[in-house]
Amino acid sequence: MARLDFPKDFVWGTATASYQIEGAYQEDGRGLSIWDTFSHTPGKVVNNDNGDVACDSYHRYEEDVALLKNLGVKAYRFSIAWPRIFPQGTGEVNEKGLDYYRRVVDALIAAGIEPCVTLYHWDLPQALQDKGGWANRDTIDAFVKYAEVVFKAFDGKIKQWITFNETWCVSFLSNYIGAHAPGNTDLQLAVDVAHNCMVAHGQAVKKFRELGVKGQIGTTHNLYWYEPYSTKPEDVAAAHRNRAYYNEWFMDPTFKGTYPPFMVDWFREKGVEVKIQPGDLETMSQPIDFIGINFYSGGFGRYKKGEGLFDCEEVQVGFDRTFMDWNVYPDGLYKVLSWVKEEYGDIPIYITENGACYEDELTADKRVHDVLRAEYYKKHFIQCHRVIESGVPLKGYFAWSLLDNFEWAEGYKKRFGIVYTNYETLERHPKDSYYFIQKVIADGGLDV
Ligand code: NOJ
Repeated sequence: MARLDFPKDFVWGTATASYQIEGAYQEDGRGLSIWDTFSHTPGKVVNNDNGDVACDSYHRYEEDVALLKNLGVKAYRFSIAWPRIFPQGTGEVNEKGLDYYRRVVDALIAAGIEPCVTLYHWDLPQALQDKGGWANRDTIDAFVKYAEVVFKAFDGKIKQWITFNETWCVSFLSNYIGAHAPGNTDLQLAVDVAHNCMVAHGQAVKKFRELGVKGQIGTTHNLYWYEPYSTKPEDVAAAHRNRAYYNEWFMDPTFKGTYPPFMVDWFREKGVEVKIQPGDLETMSQPIDFIGINFYSGGFGRYKKGEGLFDCEEVQVGFDRTFMDWNVYPDGLYKVLSWVKEEYGDIPIYITENGACYEDELTADKRVHDVLRAEYYKKHFIQCHRVIESGVPLKGYFAWSLLDNFEWAEGYKKRFGIVYTNYETLERHPKDSYYFIQKVIADGGLDV
């Protein structure tokens, strides 16, 4: 048996997002977002579920904070709903919307928990989508205005700010694959959206510095770890394209102010151009204080003409899979974080999400014995420890998620929480994985 101790200042946390937990979708002047529209369109979400009520955290945030406190975390990552602050995306500030987050932030601070705020976790005001959404560069200005209001309202209270959550999902998943709001299926549009989001990120960082806001600012990308199935050059190239679609396409602009040339060429062959305006590349690569990484999975790819966007097929090599059908690949976490350091330097890294979806059963005594989820966490904690030992500046880890919530296009059936949400009664019940993490935090590490 070996003992793995984490650094004393390692930040343990959990994460959630506004639309997934808050509910109260028409309360206190909140405007509609693209997710209200999408989820209310029949056939878009499994079971036609929507976030009208979700976990009702808008009214039950005190219970959530109590769960966090009991868990022993140092930080809590949550997102602010833009349509609560600017119901129409721009115009007058809705103070009642800000008040809700004032209550949440104050409750966290009173409990000794550092608030970590994501500014954009996918709930774009519908009024902005009606004018083209992220494909319209006016949305960049609206975002920076919204960010400015929030920066000023919470300056000094927030330790960590994250501009965007998973820009790949905002762009490709939502505008090319069409699985998420607003549900478009146009590759050029997706590339435009990705670019504009990156510019919006950079402009928000500039505004943050200009205002002298306290705390740190960064962004969160969802990285995957794709490896070639063989050493054949065509397999290596295909797997690299597939990986770059998630990783380099977002990491290179963030840190290097460039797009990977081989991907630019690949898109060009498909008739798609990156529309870069003067100053954009410098804006998107503004120095940031940390990088947030959401990591869930990885896999192996090999060349297959005509397969997907990149002539790459995924090869099944016998990984365990979660209820989302995602490969469980803890080594991938070690590899991807090592790659970040090698490729982008010594930027402090936070895992802003990692976690797993499994089918849970609430027992008569209100327990959930989610052995597989606890194991998933354990395996990933081991890799976190290993990567820190190897010299990668991993500073913290946020489990996704504090509680079961609205899993976007998958609705409520897919549970990621370490706390079980009873959607009938809205009661919360900590699962065994919650107690596992509680012990790791209390002990400052784990025995393996
Ligand atoms: C990434 C997203 O940020 C989050 O909203 C989602 O619920 C989890 N992954 C799980 O799919």
